[in-house]
Amino acid sequence: MKEKKKIWSIYTRLFHVMLITSVVTSYILIQKENQLTSHVLVGYLVALLIAFRIIWGFLGVKCSQHKDLLKKAPQVPAYFKNYFNKNRGSYMGHNPASAVYVLLIMTLLILVTVSGSLLYGIQENSGIFASLNKNYSGWMLLLESIHKTATTVLIVFIASHVIGVLLNLVFNGSDLILGMIHGKRIETSFDVILTPKQHLFGLVWIASVLSLGVYFYTKPDNILTQDQSLAIDFRSDSYETSSGCGSCHIVYPAYLLPKKSWNFMMDNLENHFGKDASRPEEEAQSIREYLLSHAAEYSTREASIKVLDRLGDKIPQAITETNYWKEKHKNITKEQFAADYGIKSDCTTCHKTIRDGLIQDAQIKFNYE
Ligand code: HEC
Ligand code: HEC
Repeated sequence: MKEKKKIWSIYTRLFHVMLITSVVTSYILIQKENQLTSHVLVGYLVALLIAFRIIWGFLGVKCSQHKDLLKKAPQVPAYFKNYFNKNRGSYMGHNPASAVYVLLIMTLLILVTVSGSLLYGIQENSGIFASLNKNYSGWMLLLESIHKTATTVLIVFIASHVIGVLLNLVFNGSDLILGMIHGKRIETSFDVILTPKQHLFGLVWIASVLSLGVYFYTKPDNILTQDQSLAIDFRSDSYETSSGCGSCHIVYPAYLLPKKSWNFMMDNLENHFGKDASRPEEEAQSIREYLLSHAAEYSTREASIKVLDRLGDKIPQAITETNYWKEKHKNITKEQFAADYGIKSDCTTCHKTIRDGLIQDAQIKFNYE
């Protein structure tokens, strides 16, 4: 049996393990809306890992170079044609199929992390791109679907990569999985020996991702996650609305309903959800003006854009009647609302900051189990 040679450097292997861990963690975290901050932080780690890997590909490390991967891409058809041929040639490092995978997965990861951080700025008004929320909220829905679609494609790719590795194990007895850990392969005739410069770069790569991870863990509230959404002071914005509409329930933020809903509500105050909420003429006029000028149509907040997007042709008479609200709360049963949280229209039990007009994902208090 041929002697095994080490072709994957310690840095490449650590990178691989750290990348798998962070991508999987980030994906698990986003399944719960109130874990958005952690999802984003782990996403930044993915971005940093990839940024270093891109530079690594230019540093001349055998088997990890971009040009090696690109050179192998055209050999993919030949590779599959000879797939079951025991005497087919072997490849140093990546075979053509996995070379193409690596290139595509890296491209997808760039797309996912870039669209993710832009989305975090535009949709959540948070992080380094928060300033884009003001002028680019029109891009929110497109960016979100790019981020989600790229993630889905990424998952399909990762799954088929794993299947490919397993098939290789079954049909070719290739020990790729152990190779990933000890970095050695039979098929090669040389050891990868790193220059001091490459070693230094590798150390900086791994050390900076690890220390950033520790920093994020100890200080999740940092410049990369800061929420720039402005609180609303209803009392000073419109005293009439705050006193006239805030006596029976919280002042619901005007940006959660479209103009036509507010108009409908103000036209029917004497029959307001079974109560008489009518206000003196002048006060009602002032409330109507405030609500209309701060309706969903004039807001760049995520909830406003999505309430309007999913509106349909009806005029919702309550926030809880909008399709967006229903979509976001569909997993909370009536019984859960009643038993644990009172009534659904009392948003404050789960959205602690809604009295200040803020609905932040990180602030949702809800027992997801
Ligand atoms: C006399 C008490 C009273 C006053 C005053 C009042 N409301 Fe209401 N409001 C209610 C009740 C009761 C409900 C129904 C709550 C529920 O569904 O559990 C309601 C529901 C709402 C909802 C829907 C909440 C949801 O579930 O989505 C909105 C929006 C709303 N009110 C806005 C206003 C505005 C704007 C004013 C001021 C013009 C106002 N309310 C004044 C009693 C009042
Ligand atoms: C029982 C707890 C509960 C109550 C009460 C509740 N919500 Fe929510 N809300 C949630 C949860 C949980 C989510 C996140 C859902 C998810 O994970 O997708 C959410 C999500 C949302 C979102 C989407 C998040 C965003 O950033 O746009 C909005 C908007 C929202 N709620 C508004 C309201 C309003 C307005 C009320 C009151 C009329 C309300 N909610 C009452 C639990 C609640």
